[in-house]
Amino acid sequence: MSAEALPTSLALLRLMTGMWLAQAISVAAKFGVADLLGSGPKGPDELARATGTHTPSLYRVLRALASVGVFREDEDGRFCLTPLAEPLRSDAPASLRSFAIMLGEEWHWRAWGDLPNSVQTGQSAFEHLYGITNFEYWTRNPEAAAIFDQAMTSRSAEENQAVISAYDFSTIETLVDVGGGHGSFLVSILQAASAMRGILFDRPHVVAGATQQIQSAGLQGRCEVMAGNFFDSVPKGADAYILKKVIHDWGDVRQAARPLDAGVDPRRQGAYGGRARHAPERGWVRGERLHPDRGSCQRH
Ligand SMILES: C[S@@+](CC[C@H](N)C(=O)[O-])C[C@H]1O[C@@H](n2cnc3c(N)ncnc32)[C@H](O)[C@@H]1O
Repeated sequence: MSAEALPTSLALLRLMTGMWLAQAISVAAKFGVADLLGSGPKGPDELARATGTHTPSLYRVLRALASVGVFREDEDGRFCLTPLAEPLRSDAPASLRSFAIMLGEEWHWRAWGDLPNSVQTGQSAFEHLYGITNFEYWTRNPEAAAIFDQAMTSRSAEENQAVISAYDFSTIETLVDVGGGHGSFLVSILQAASAMRGILFDRPHVVAGATQQIQSAGLQGRCEVMAGNFFDSVPKGADAYILKKVIHDWGDVRQAARPLDAGVDPRRQGAYGGRARHAPERGWVRGERLHPDRGSCQRH
């Protein structure tokens, strides 16, 4: 039954228990279940052996997921892929596997558990729990950093084409992607704009993982990699600077605007979003999600 067709209280209940399903999806992603099912249906015993997991527990997770259309159980108790399970494969176009794994990581899960404190105090849950920002945590924990960076790259695969078709980058000569992660977005822009030069800018441990992607796209001649802290400065001299999914990381407008002040004339700003379609002013280009339009509060 689709969410719209459910009675209201059941629709709400489905949202409320979403955390259970999110964790089940993450577990399936972590143990590579969708990859194993790529070669055909498999029973829980075979899946548990291949993943080093406890058969009855894995079976319960897979049945829970099958109840919402992620995997299907056949009459022999074997599981197979469904359209909803396909993006959990590592080799799927725009694979969501890395993102699903990240959502189940303890540091992610714990931070969301601390949301009540954030709402009460305004303090970042991550900083409240760990005493450092999430970005500092990743600097100190390479394994967690790799999971986060891969998760960001996996989402980019889906977003890049949408942004490139919605926004005209062709007038830009040199573009800096500020907080550009492993460079997947900048690589896509450079592939679409063959005369442009690019500079990927992010924290040192992040850009260290970008070189391979730039080289395998054959873009090393047009794409420079620079490391630093955008609160101190950003590479100078480019005619446009883009921030995709960066501003939302910072708690208030003044904090979020600091990268914008770190080296470029803030009067030269452009923006793109779901409803915007225009050539950039030379200067800053911000890429963030748009919130839905406001509606009416009259009772239904
Ligand atoms: C949410 S991720 C977005 C990554 C990428 N723009 C994308 O859309 O996938 C935010 C990025 O900002 C970078 N970042 C955070 N603080 C930074 C700082 N002080 N200086 C430079 N980069 C920073 C992070 O390392 C991370 O790659």
